[in-house]
Amino acid sequence: MKKTLILLALLILPLHELVADEGMWLPSLISQRIEDMQKNGFRLTAEDVYSINQASLKDAVVLFGSGCTGEIVSDEGLLLTNHHCGYGYIQKHSSVEHDYLKDGFWAMSRNEELPNPGLTVSILQRMEDVTEAVLKGYKPGMSEEKREEIVKKNSEALIEEVGKEGQSLRVRVEPLYYGNQYFLFVFKVYRDVRLVGAPPSSIGKFGGDTDNWMWPRHTGDFSIFRIYAGKDNEPADYSEDNVPYQSKKSFRISRSGVKPGDFTFVYGCPGSTKEYVTSEDVSYVGYVSDPQKIALRTKRLDIQKKYMSQSQAVRIQYSSKYASVSNAWKKWQGESKGIIRMNTVESKKAYEARFREWAKGTRYDGLVDRLNSLYAIRNPYFLANEYYTETVRAIEILQFAAATKERLTNGKPLTEATEAFFKDYYQPIDEDTFTAMLGEFDEQVPEEFKPAYFKEQISAYGSIEAWKDDLFRKSIFTDKAKVLGLTSADLDAVSSDPAIKLGEAFNDLFSKDVRSKLTDINRQINLAYRDYMKGQMEFEPEKTFYPDANLTLRIAYGHVQGYSPADGVEYFPVSTLKGIIEKDDPEIFDYNIPQALRDIYAEGGHEAQPVCFLATNHTSGGNSGSPVINADGDLIGINFDRVWEGTMSDIVFDPAFCRNISLDIRYLLFIIEHIGHASYLFDEMDFN
Ligand code: ARG
Ligand code: GLU
Repeated sequence: MKKTLILLALLILPLHELVADEGMWLPSLISQRIEDMQKNGFRLTAEDVYSINQASLKDAVVLFGSGCTGEIVSDEGLLLTNHHCGYGYIQKHSSVEHDYLKDGFWAMSRNEELPNPGLTVSILQRMEDVTEAVLKGYKPGMSEEKREEIVKKNSEALIEEVGKEGQSLRVRVEPLYYGNQYFLFVFKVYRDVRLVGAPPSSIGKFGGDTDNWMWPRHTGDFSIFRIYAGKDNEPADYSEDNVPYQSKKSFRISRSGVKPGDFTFVYGCPGSTKEYVTSEDVSYVGYVSDPQKIALRTKRLDIQKKYMSQSQAVRIQYSSKYASVSNAWKKWQGESKGIIRMNTVESKKAYEARFREWAKGTRYDGLVDRLNSLYAIRNPYFLANEYYTETVRAIEILQFAAATKERLTNGKPLTEATEAFFKDYYQPIDEDTFTAMLGEFDEQVPEEFKPAYFKEQISAYGSIEAWKDDLFRKSIFTDKAKVLGLTSADLDAVSSDPAIKLGEAFNDLFSKDVRSKLTDINRQINLAYRDYMKGQMEFEPEKTFYPDANLTLRIAYGHVQGYSPADGVEYFPVSTLKGIIEKDDPEIFDYNIPQALRDIYAEGGHEAQPVCFLATNHTSGGNSGSPVINADGDLIGINFDRVWEGTMSDIVFDPAFCRNISLDIRYLLFIIEHIGHASYLFDEMDFN
């Protein structure tokens, strides 16, 4: 009876409700998921997705730089990623005469494409399970140190051997499931990557930090590059003689668009998740760490905002700094709220109770308690270290002083770094940050984590405020001319500068004592997790466990779907140009669109132009720039964000709230045509 009811309920639900969207799957094991993907509408085969024998979609997905994803969309190496992934490169090419960040950039021919020294694109050649080779020589019962030594030696040997297969290969051996498995990843690294196009920031970063992690979203978050290779199509240093890279595979672009329920597949490189940790870890993140870091960053952001709103120049100086402080700040809010809303700590505890029962008399007996007691030892150190990072290391002058001293010590030139620092430095912000952050540290952190020097200064001056006044008056690091004049002969004077002394007092305590304690305890925790992970897999043999993310290529599939962020509110999963015009406001920096876009809209007929869409794919940081493809394997979007209410998906996935945000590929085409006037790029793309 019960069964029939469940079956009936399943039949009544719309098809997409049935999809389990959680999971970041390994492409090489996709044959285990392909049936489920096909059941959900996917029309390609496992070999189409990942193959080492024939061209497959994986050949068109790249790791862009060291933390984003990109996709190849032509057989001449044309590459798409996010605007926020290309941002640093666009910025480097920008000057007062050519402000590509502000105005956008469009190469009108191959000659105009701009080289980016240091930027690489890594293309996965293959991945394989090398557990046996990595553990060769290891016998159960050997000490953990011995095991580590064996793993290290075998991995290095493998990397060296595989590295001989070709030039420009980057070979990695990565633990999966906390070292229950090891995988080999072989990438080919291309190092001549040129900028082809970028929209103005008022499109590529439309909505700025106001809309970041939010829906409805209208950000045209893309930039366009091209991979170049030597005449043999192999990676080469930049040279005028290089030619566009011909990849085995490139994505065909779909113009058919998306509608609710459509199958979506994100192919990219999520950075880091921890889905299998214990209740203690989740409790620490959701109830301790996130809330405290949020409070600290709120203070910092308020200080920056205050001065930014008073001066255009300061706003420009701090907009990028503000963006990076606020990005995690907003993410943590969603993460903590999500963990609390989902009762994750309670449900993990209930799970642990069942696990404990099952584990009695097995080698997994007592494991959960062991982990939890290790957390009890770890947490005070971990929290103090987080405070250190979020407070002391937020004071710019201290960072700059330490970096300058290091350059002087190593005989490195100071000019460029010093100019760069002062270009974006506004001392009143730093002074207020000093007082506020050190005040927080003093109030919140236990005495044992306060360097003696710190306590002495506070009692000598009577207040942090008075100490601050004196430090900023006396330190040479607030004075650009003085810093530029430093030579190695001044090292003694530099060493007694109050900014150096303060930084070093903290550094001595945290980078040495606290870190070594943390390294030691983290090693024990990881070790326990190796068993706990294995135990969880044996405890639930019918469940498929996807490995935590580690910046290697993964597959996440789901479907286009809105969500309900609050009672009485239901979000539609698609946004349009109409919404951009609704938000448009020349008075508000984040919403001030280019006049050209207003003009095009005024011509009429573009109200329904799609801009972004929501889907249920399980993504994380690093998935920025990932191709989003439809049931036919054609490109429909570029992933760039999640909604903040779902950011706990790094720890626990909630099908009701976890949504990734993608740029609709048709908006990219629209901007190329109407804003970039670079439709010539369409000639090399393949459309469906
Ligand atoms: N939230 C996205 C990510 O985590 C986008 C960040 C860049 N955009 C911004 N407005 N700060 O990377
Ligand atoms: N914007 C993120 C990135 O740069 C992706 C958002 C997320 O964390 O899902 O990787």
